[in-house]
Amino acid sequence: MKIFLDSANIQEIREINELGFLSGVTTNPSLVAQEKGDFHQMVEEICGIVDGPVNAEPLGISYEDMIREGEILAGIHPNVVVKIPICEDGLRAIGFLKKQGIQTNATLVFSANQALLAARAGARYISPFVGRIDDIGNDGINVLAEIISVLDQYALDTEIIAASIRHTMHVTEAARIGSHIATIPYKVIKAMVKHPLTDLGIAKFVKDGEKYLSKS
Ligand code: G3P
Repeated sequence: MKIFLDSANIQEIREINELGFLSGVTTNPSLVAQEKGDFHQMVEEICGIVDGPVNAEPLGISYEDMIREGEILAGIHPNVVVKIPICEDGLRAIGFLKKQGIQTNATLVFSANQALLAARAGARYISPFVGRIDDIGNDGINVLAEIISVLDQYALDTEIIAASIRHTMHVTEAARIGSHIATIPYKVIKAMVKHPLTDLGIAKFVKDGEKYLSKS
């Protein structure tokens, strides 16, 4: 499973990118709204940091706005992937942008049927929102598994991105059931690195190393 960072924060993106496992970045209007500065410049800067897909979402929601803004976003850098919410206008926009050679990520996906339609319309990526399904009392990982098993049966050029990841177990489960990608918030990636036994082990090695050095 590839690891994307779900963030529009330049510092976070730089820091996580330096760790060497990052394959891409996803942003959305809510993440962009938490940052200062011009949206398009932000996308350009992220593309300069990360060598992989950088997902950016049009702010307008009509078909016309999505294709107009989608073309502008895609013109910023060849790695830009345009995020399009799954709805009738969104499906049309996915098809139109594909014909222009622009990759899309169908976002706000909550069911296997939505995923199937988005894949057939030509979405390069599909983002089931695992955490938001949990929020309303359903099992987000189950829905993700259903989407993976449906799309796996056909030779579609579509990768599934487990999105709306809230904690480390979401990541483990997404990897276990074969999600192609998980897009993970900064704080969850930080938590994935940590294990109390690693901390204890490092402390003991440091202590024993010092003991050895003091004898020599
Ligand atoms: O990638 C989509 C993600 O940013 C949504 O996460 O936590 O707002 O449901 P959340």
